[in-house]
Amino acid sequence: MPIDAKTLQETYDQMERKLHGIIPDIEMRYKAELVFEINQLKKERGAIILGHNYMEPALFHTVPDVVGDSLELSRKAAETECDPIVFCGVRFMAETAKILNPTRTVLLPAKRAGCSLAESITAQDVRNLRQQYPGVPIVTYINTYADVKAECDICCTSGNAARVVESLDSDVIIFLPDEYLAANVAEETGKKIIFPSRDAIQNPKPGLEYEMIGWHGRCEVHDKFTVQDIKNVRAQYPGVLVLAHPECSPEVVAASDFSSSTSKMTQRVKETEAPSYLLLTECSMGDNIMAENPEKEMVRMCSIRCPHMNEITLEDTLNALKNNVQIIEVPEEIRVRARRSVDRMLEIG
Ligand code: 13P
Ligand code: SF4
Repeated sequence: MPIDAKTLQETYDQMERKLHGIIPDIEMRYKAELVFEINQLKKERGAIILGHNYMEPALFHTVPDVVGDSLELSRKAAETECDPIVFCGVRFMAETAKILNPTRTVLLPAKRAGCSLAESITAQDVRNLRQQYPGVPIVTYINTYADVKAECDICCTSGNAARVVESLDSDVIIFLPDEYLAANVAEETGKKIIFPSRDAIQNPKPGLEYEMIGWHGRCEVHDKFTVQDIKNVRAQYPGVLVLAHPECSPEVVAASDFSSSTSKMTQRVKETEAPSYLLLTECSMGDNIMAENPEKEMVRMCSIRCPHMNEITLEDTLNALKNNVQIIEVPEEIRVRARRSVDRMLEIG
């Protein structure tokens, strides 16, 4: 919930209660001024701020009206009547908000805020696959740009990927672009997966058995975690509960205790009583969980931050609201086709 304070001092006091020990006091005083101004301006403009679970703690706990994972934020973006929608997340998320709510102004408070998965595939790559595997349904992870979504049949997020795959009535499906998520979904649904090279897509081997076809995209953040990291932490923290995002490698997911979307990971920490927790995901989320659950011990791997999520700051959020930047536009012809893929996913629930 955003901080609802009438004065700057009240803003600081509320932040201090929540974030004491998580961010230094000098930073909190400076950021309280920005938070106060953002919340005032948001009210004046009738805006809504959506914040992904990876936002840094001083932003996450103060200005968003709704926080969550990609699926929750897409649903909220679809139903809101507020205008503008300020998306504190990365570009593909803001684009999804625009796809779902085209009459609203969607603002992304950073110029770039990309994603290594979204960069890993183009609309032309999807058209080539479609040509090579005619009639095979194509699932795309929501971490892709609008023109890629427009070429696919249905989207999925980390929270519903297995359900989306199981909903498709087909012997074979194509799953793009995250190699690890695809392999993790194949494991969960008991399907056999192949990862053809670009060359093999042009000249497929006859008789090769498979039920899923993947792509070689990876999240540059989740790719950093290893099974050895888990072994080291387990040796040092007996009883630690290890939670891995499904963008981690299948080996890391297999060595962990739980794997799901960022919101489901957060929920699992809240609902369990373990001596300590290791989160294998972007490290700000650990700080955010710690602020909500001060009694829980989080084992921190603080250097692992998403450089793209990291671009969203309180300063830029204020600038977005003041100067209406960066406005997200999606050409209508692409938006309509991309919307079909997103709607099909949302219908699955
Ligand atoms: P979630 O949908 O689980 O929040 O994941 C988004 C993401 O980009 C994780 O790296
Ligand atoms: Fe993309 Fe990985 Fe950053 Fe998520 S953590 S936005 S998948 S680069």
